[in-house]
Amino acid sequence: MGTASLGGMKVGVSRLDREIDELAAISVHPAPAVTRVIFSPEDLSAREWLTVLAKEAGFLVRQDPVGNLFIRWEGSEPCLPAVATGSHTDAIPNAGKYDGVVGVLGGLEAMRVLKEGGHVPKRSIELIMFTSEEPTRFGIGCLGSRLMAGTTSPEQAQALRDPEGRSLDELREAAGCRGSLGAVKLSTGAYKAFVELHIEQGPLLEAAEIDIGVVEKIAAPSAFRLLLKGQGGHAGAVLMPGRKDAFLAAAEIALLVEKAALESGSPDTVGTTGLVEVKPGAINSIPCDVKMEVDFRDTNKEARDKALARIGDGTHAICKRRGVTVDWQVINQDPPALCDPSLVALVEAQAAKAGCTQQRMISRAYHDSLFMARVCPTVMIFIPCYKGYSHRPDEYSSPEAIAKGVTVLAGCLKELSAR
Ligand code: GLV
Ligand code: MN
Ligand code: MN
Repeated sequence: MGTASLGGMKVGVSRLDREIDELAAISVHPAPAVTRVIFSPEDLSAREWLTVLAKEAGFLVRQDPVGNLFIRWEGSEPCLPAVATGSHTDAIPNAGKYDGVVGVLGGLEAMRVLKEGGHVPKRSIELIMFTSEEPTRFGIGCLGSRLMAGTTSPEQAQALRDPEGRSLDELREAAGCRGSLGAVKLSTGAYKAFVELHIEQGPLLEAAEIDIGVVEKIAAPSAFRLLLKGQGGHAGAVLMPGRKDAFLAAAEIALLVEKAALESGSPDTVGTTGLVEVKPGAINSIPCDVKMEVDFRDTNKEARDKALARIGDGTHAICKRRGVTVDWQVINQDPPALCDPSLVALVEAQAAKAGCTQQRMISRAYHDSLFMARVCPTVMIFIPCYKGYSHRPDEYSSPEAIAKGVTVLAGCLKELSAR
C-alpha cells in the first residue's frame, strides 16, 4: 500500500484504491475496461454511489440543473468564496479506471484526510463532479464546465442531441436534474480557486521518474464535423471516371488534416480524424454520404487556427474537384488556458513539502480546468501513468503515485481554505 505524508497528515491509499475499483465496476464493460456514458444507467448509479460516500464522510451534496454534482465541506466562514477541486467520472467507451476518477475520488480522499486530521477550513471546500467532460454522448466535451463558465449558452446546450436524437433536456430531466440551464452559470467570484488532480495521460512524468507535474498551460482544443454528400451507385456498374465518392473525399481530407498538423510550424499541433461514418455502408455500393469528425489542437492558438484555415481551403478544393458537397460544422474552437502563477507556486511548494519530485508542464488533453480558468484562478496537478496510456483499459496509475497526488492536493486545499 502506498502512502505519502504532509506534516502530520497521512494519505493512506487502501480506501481510495478500493473505491477506484468499486467505481470501475459500475460500467457497461467488465474491468479493467470502463464505459460510463453521461446519463446512462451506469452514470446514474455512479452518482448515487458517490453521493452516499460523500454523505457518509459528513459532506453536503447538491446538484445543478445539468447534473454537475457539488460535495461541500462547509467552512467556518461559509459566505467566503469556496475553494474548489474536482474532475469527472464519465468514461468514453472502453476507457480505463483513472481518467477523471483520480480527481474526483482523490479530491474526496483529500477532504476526508484533512477532516480526519482536524483541519477546520475557514473557506468552504467543494468537490465538483462535472457533467460530461467526455464528448461521447453529446459530441462536445466539458459540457458541465462550459455551462458553468458561460462559454456554452443554455440555448446552444438545448440544441444538443445524442446519437439517438434525444435532447439534453430530455436526458437531464430523466436523470432528475431540475431547473433551468441558465442557472448553471457561475457568478464572478463564485470560487477562490480551482485545483484539479488528474493523471498525465502522456508518458513524460513516468519516463523522467517525476512524481508531480505542475501544469502551467492547457492546450487549445478544437473540433469540427463534416457532412459530405456525393453520389451513390452500383460498385460494379458505375465506371471510375465521373464518380462522386464521398468517402474518397473524406480520405483525402483526413490526409490533409495530418499534413496540416505536421506542417503547421508548431511541434505541438495534433490532428485526429477519429470518427468516420460511411453510408450506405455496403461493399458493393459507392459511398454517397460521410460524416467525419476531426479533433485538432495546439498550445499555440495562432498556429492551430492557421492550420485549420488551411484544412478549410483544402477541403473545399477537394470537394469541388470530386463533385462532393460539404457542410462544415464547428463543434468547438477554444483558446488555451493559462494556470494561475500563484497557484502554480502553491502546488510547487506543497510538492516540495511532501518530498515529491516535480516539473512544470503543459496539458495536451483538455479538462474542465480549461473552462474553470475562465471563472477563477486555476491550476492542475498531474501524476504519472503507465506508459502514458489513457482512454484505454490498461490505463494505470500506481497507488503510490495517486497517494502523492492526493497529498499535494490536500496540502493546497488546506492552505487555500485557511486564507
Ligand atoms: C479529454 O478527454 C480530451 O480528449 O482531451
Ligand atoms: Mn478523457
Ligand atoms: Mn479526464
